[in-house]
Amino acid sequence: MALEFSGKRILVTGVAGFIGSHLARALLDRGSEVIGVDALTDYYDPARKRRNLESVLGEKTFRFFEEDLNRVEFSRLPVPDIVFHEAAQAGIRASWGGSFQRYVEDNILATQRLLEAVGRWGRIERFVFASSSSVYGDQNRLPLSEDMVPNPISPYGVTKLAAERLVFSYARRLEMPAFALRYFTVYGPRQRPDMAIERFFEAALRGEAVELYGDGSQSRDFTFVDDVVEANLLCLESGGPGGVYNIGGGVVTTMTDLIKEIRRVSERKIEVRKRETAPGDVRHTLADTSRAREDLGFAPKTTLKEGLRRQWDWIREDVAERGLL
Ligand SMILES: NC(=O)c1ccc[n+]([C@@H]2O[C@H](COP(=O)([O-])OP(=O)(O)OC[C@H]3O[C@@H](n4cnc5c(N)ncnc54)[C@H](O)[C@@H]3O)[C@@H](O)[C@H]2O)c1
Repeated sequence: MALEFSGKRILVTGVAGFIGSHLARALLDRGSEVIGVDALTDYYDPARKRRNLESVLGEKTFRFFEEDLNRVEFSRLPVPDIVFHEAAQAGIRASWGGSFQRYVEDNILATQRLLEAVGRWGRIERFVFASSSSVYGDQNRLPLSEDMVPNPISPYGVTKLAAERLVFSYARRLEMPAFALRYFTVYGPRQRPDMAIERFFEAALRGEAVELYGDGSQSRDFTFVDDVVEANLLCLESGGPGGVYNIGGGVVTTMTDLIKEIRRVSERKIEVRKRETAPGDVRHTLADTSRAREDLGFAPKTTLKEGLRRQWDWIREDVAERGLL
């Protein structure tokens, strides 16, 4: 049965993050009440996360809880009807070594703790989890489809896969419709500062050189953030039992072509310094989104050209507002 947005109380974890903040805005625009939780972790500047929140703070139907999912007393939160779980320790390269502890805590333990709370709340109508294309690792063929055996090659990917499996274990026990949306390299306004497009644009703006990991022939399926938000909303409209879905733009772009496009959009020269491929980085990603199209009606709308233009416009405005250039 399709759900109404209006009047629903929706919990968005990771609400101050890149994707969570866009999702919260879209839900508020559709008349939902949003309970936002975020620990404002220091993986990147928390001031940037506070700015992300500016788009929703002040709305009558938005409440923000600065809380860590590993510590929050869930009984203090208003009981939601629906949960979107976006909170995580993101980033592939940082997931090796000592910081793995944090990935385990924020991606696995926090998810399990949230799911226990969901069990106590007892009547959650949908649980939508932000999973990742990184659960696939390097596969023998492209495009990547949901029936392939996951084979993560980074500690980050391992934690996202573990969290995904936890979601479906609890969903089965609680008889709750659950969706794991495997996002493919999301970009757009407010993108995380550790991600390639944001780094490249910021370097273009400052006239600095950019570091490119690998020889440039590696490719990604870039997905504009509005399309990712739309996929999340479609999970509420779906009457199905849920499942795993690829959410990608559906077009393959090499890093070399991406940089060309960024030079074109920004009309700036960008000096590229090549670095060795980072461990855990897969060679290619490309989503087969036919399952999401058939079950959810998902169809990405924003081309890379248009999406890059929107991110570039946002960066320039953001930097000017903060008086940085
Ligand atoms: N951005 C992408 O390309 C991409 C691709 C695949 C999957 N994902 C997934 O999408 C989700 C959102 O990613 P993003 O790019 O917006 O990242 P982000 O880092 O901008 O947002 C994540 C937010 O979660 C918060 N958080 C982390 N641990 C927490 C905890 N224990 N308790 C409360 N809050 C906590 C952080 O403070 C942060 O604001 C993540 O689950 C990520 O794994 C993102």
